[in-house]
Amino acid sequence: MSKKKIILDLDTGIDDSLALAYVIANPDADLVGVTSEYGNVHVELAAENSLKILELLHHPEIPVFIGESHASTKDSFEVLPTSQRIHGINGIGNIQLPTPKRQPEKTSAADFMVEAAHQYGKDLIIVPTGPMTNLALALEKEPHLPDLIGGVTFMGGALTVPGNITPVAEANINQDPEAANKVFHSRLPLTMIGLDVTHRAVLTKDDTAIWRMIGTPAATNFADMLDYYIDIYLANQAYVGGCALHDPLAAAVAIDPSFVTTIDLDLKVDLDEPYRARTIGDEMRIHNKPHTKVAVNLDVPYFIGIFMKYLGKLFQNTKEN
Ligand code: BDR
Ligand code: CA
Repeated sequence: MSKKKIILDLDTGIDDSLALAYVIANPDADLVGVTSEYGNVHVELAAENSLKILELLHHPEIPVFIGESHASTKDSFEVLPTSQRIHGINGIGNIQLPTPKRQPEKTSAADFMVEAAHQYGKDLIIVPTGPMTNLALALEKEPHLPDLIGGVTFMGGALTVPGNITPVAEANINQDPEAANKVFHSRLPLTMIGLDVTHRAVLTKDDTAIWRMIGTPAATNFADMLDYYIDIYLANQAYVGGCALHDPLAAAVAIDPSFVTTIDLDLKVDLDEPYRARTIGDEMRIHNKPHTKVAVNLDVPYFIGIFMKYLGKLFQNTKEN
């Protein structure tokens, strides 16, 4: 079986950084590029954080691309105070990493997605873990994207549980509901990894203590970053029982769909109040053959076991400089 080619589309954030580490660590995947989104931070800082994390993990060869700086229906973007609280002012839990040795690539995120679609075809899975603005733009640039690539596995939305930014909306979808709705109405093969499953994928300080024992700079920095994130979760959403592994779960399912159980259901995003940014089944397409899978259940011990195994190995292997 050929390795899956992955593009991570990140608003690099703490859990986005974990998604990056997970794909690098997974022997069944090739990370072909990281595209950047605004969201948890401004897009330039998202790219800088990705470059820093890639250097920390000894993978400076993976290209990083800058994406759109704001939602498709707006002309600017400000980081929400909630995002600053959850991810820290610098987006990575206020840990201090050296200035990256390189710059992002000149090609835009959407152009890179289109180029990669032509190069890798069905082996390519795009994994957005922030707003869908870059992907919606790539679709506009290349309307054949749905026929070219293997699929899109995204972190966002909530079908069977409440939202986390409004009572009905999840944070990533809420940033650019129009872009997400375009993606939902394209023929892209989609898998939604929403709060339905990501709130069950939980990391605790018992897990970060294991990383601390590994003792490499990568292990220690990730432990510091995650302890920051866990403290915020315990203060704001104690019922989760630790921090939610939103973005790494989407990355993991992109590589191995067997972590989750899904239902086939085409979705829409509500664009009007009072339900703006809600993800829900599209009543206008209930007679069509669905192109969307929505994850509704997760094999928690299987996922956490594999997650800890791969990240532990990766952190061990970053010993030598
Ligand atoms: C999503 O919002 C962001 O804060 C996280 O990185 C994740 O992608 C969870 O709703
Ligand atoms: Ca994210």
